[in-house]
Amino acid sequence: MSIRAVIRGVGHAVPPKVVTNDDIAKIVETSDEWIVQRTGIKERRVSAQDETSSTLGTQAAQEALKASGFAPEDIDLIVCGTVTGDMIFPATACLIQDRIGATKAGAYDVGAACAGFIYSLASVTGMIESGAIKRAIVVGVDVLSKYVDWTDRSTCVLFGDGAGAVVLEGQSNTDRGVIKTVLLSDGSGAKHIMYESGGSLYPVGKDYSQGHRTSIYMAGAEVYRFAVNAMGDACCRALQEAGMESSDIDLFVPHQANLRIIDSAAKRLELPDEKVFVNVHKYGNTSGGSIPLGLYEAEKEGRLKEGMVVMTVGFGAGLVWGANIIRW
Ligand code: ACO
Repeated sequence: MSIRAVIRGVGHAVPPKVVTNDDIAKIVETSDEWIVQRTGIKERRVSAQDETSSTLGTQAAQEALKASGFAPEDIDLIVCGTVTGDMIFPATACLIQDRIGATKAGAYDVGAACAGFIYSLASVTGMIESGAIKRAIVVGVDVLSKYVDWTDRSTCVLFGDGAGAVVLEGQSNTDRGVIKTVLLSDGSGAKHIMYESGGSLYPVGKDYSQGHRTSIYMAGAEVYRFAVNAMGDACCRALQEAGMESSDIDLFVPHQANLRIIDSAAKRLELPDEKVFVNVHKYGNTSGGSIPLGLYEAEKEGRLKEGMVVMTVGFGAGLVWGANIIRW
């Protein structure tokens, strides 16, 4: 009997500070009406100085671990999907590993921006299914509020901070768990969304780094066009490879970047509203945190129950995109 990667617990963390559209309209020329109409976002959470990817990620991992009933020493691996790690190195997953006391676990980060959770889950699923590990925690977290230019209205309205985490366990004799994963990329689109400073191309403190952007750059219209196609394509491919139809999906938990992008993906998949999970109005785009935060809230609201089939899909800087189909 093959081994399946089954989700045993889910957790989340968001900073307490709420920033509404009206708050942002005091900083840049924008309005609640414009932001809601173009994105569906009403408010987002913004981290304090001492709230980071590792602090939010730790909180989410601890909650997921508690829900799973496992002890920290039961965990073999921690993978953190983030592009806003506390430092370039060490990996944020290592900081989380230490804080939760997972003394027997390996730990590494996955840099796939808003698809970070999808990519991390895929990586862990493969290791569980191969028998290399038994139990793992996948964290998705980002604090993009620290990387936006708060005077650039075309980006600062979009992002917020948040984290989610799941505990996975390898099980045989079950139809639960990750059913299918699809991962895709197109690096020729790297130029459309980037944070170019602080890496080996433009290191901090070098003369030749002067003048390069120290905040998120995004070509909104290009990313929008890409996202609309990417979401639908990844889902259709995952369904096809799993031998499933969109009518087999009980709940759709897409990356929460923009309500219009979510609506167009749901329409292409012919999913009714009640099968589409949305919380973008509360949090904006939390990047790697978005999908596991959605899974957490969907479960808490009773919309995601054991045995249900959930499809997640994400896209982001890279460009990267992908989807998971999971029996909860
Ligand atoms: N308030 C008021 N006006 C604004 C604002 C704002 N906050 N932002 C832009 N505008 C203006 C623009 O200046 C433009 O004015 P102009 O026509 O006079 O030049 C006008 O509104 C329309 O701008 P568009 O860019 O055409 O607006 P659009 O309808 O495309 O919406 C948006 C912009 C919301 C950014 C959209 O393009 C989008 O959602 N793109 C995808 C973003 C995304 O999903 N990113 C995810 C990846 S993130 C990651 O990987 C980390």
